[in-house]
Amino acid sequence: MQPLCQRRAHQYSAGHNDDMDRREFTKAGMGALSMAVLGNGNAVAGPEHIIRKAIPSSGEMVPVIGLGTNRYGVGESEASRAPLRAALKRFHELGGTLIDTAPQYRTSESVLGDLIAEIGIRDNLFVATKTDKSNAADTAVQMQNSTQTLQTESFDLMQVHNLRGWKTALPVMREWKQDGRVRYIGITTSRVNQYKDFEAVMREQELDFIQIDFSLKQREAADRILPLAADQGVAVIINRAFGGGRIFKAVGDKPLPDWAKDFDCHSWAQFLLKYAVGHPAATLAIPGMTKLHHVDDNFGAAHGRLPSTEERKHQESFFDSL
Ligand SMILES: NC(=O)c1ccc[n+]([C@@H]2O[C@H](COP(=O)([O-])OP(=O)(O)OC[C@H]3O[C@@H](n4cnc5c(N)ncnc54)[C@H](OP(=O)(O)O)[C@@H]3O)[C@@H](O)[C@H]2O)c1
Repeated sequence: MQPLCQRRAHQYSAGHNDDMDRREFTKAGMGALSMAVLGNGNAVAGPEHIIRKAIPSSGEMVPVIGLGTNRYGVGESEASRAPLRAALKRFHELGGTLIDTAPQYRTSESVLGDLIAEIGIRDNLFVATKTDKSNAADTAVQMQNSTQTLQTESFDLMQVHNLRGWKTALPVMREWKQDGRVRYIGITTSRVNQYKDFEAVMREQELDFIQIDFSLKQREAADRILPLAADQGVAVIINRAFGGGRIFKAVGDKPLPDWAKDFDCHSWAQFLLKYAVGHPAATLAIPGMTKLHHVDDNFGAAHGRLPSTEERKHQESFFDSL
């Protein structure tokens, strides 16, 4: 049997023939594709042409760009919620489905619960949240609370936040999964000093997903964790592909290299996101975005093609030389 990592490398679809290269794709049909007009006046192919990858434990396809919401805990005021509603609406219009939140992100869950209900898109979303309690009873209460704050009867993905309480939390999540109230379970981290423990939990527990930090600036996950996820057939959510936004400060106003166009990158955000989701083990990235024009920009990374292994190496050496 083909190793999982090789099988997974082929489990992505861009809504067109995967073997078609960018030029053929452009020549063959850009004119015929449905287009979504972005806030900046540019247009990209519509949601049906988005790049998707498979969740290995089920084969379900998910768009390679999701939404991180650790800055959605803004409270009640309409002034602070309006831009988030606009960003979420555009995310949905452009074909996005997976939204990642957590009880730890202040009021993010309840703000999202309200916005999702107002826009009326719960059934089209893949809702992921987390637990961080140290015993089973508290974990169950926290998950129950999240059903209320997020205004949902069930979750698509429940994750242990930063491994906190994983030993007692995972059995509770499995019970909910058996009852049909959780579809997938996983663990998260964004700290290199947790990687050793993270790997040990991955080896010990059966998981559908992991979530980990991985970017051109922080590549350590590629040493052991990403190859292990590929071997085990575990889906990978990439968090902090922009290093929390700091990478943009590092690249400043330096121009993108011309060859970035070869794999359809027209901004630094797309360059960074395509590097992350271009890893064969990665399933999707969840950039934090509270601004509509960032959603537009980042969805450019879900179109065209992803960089090859060689091109990703080129991205690394270019980035290191900046
Ligand atoms: N251990 C964990 O479980 C864990 C840890 C960290 C993060 N996470 C998850 O991962 C998500 C992403 O992490 P993060 O938000 O900390 O870091 P990030 O995605 O690396 O960076 C987000 C920052 O980049 C900015 N940005 C987004 N798109 C941009 C663009 N096209 N051009 C310029 N700037 C852009 C955002 O601005 P705006 O907000 O203004 O749009 C925000 O300031 C979180 O929201 C959370 O869901 C999980």
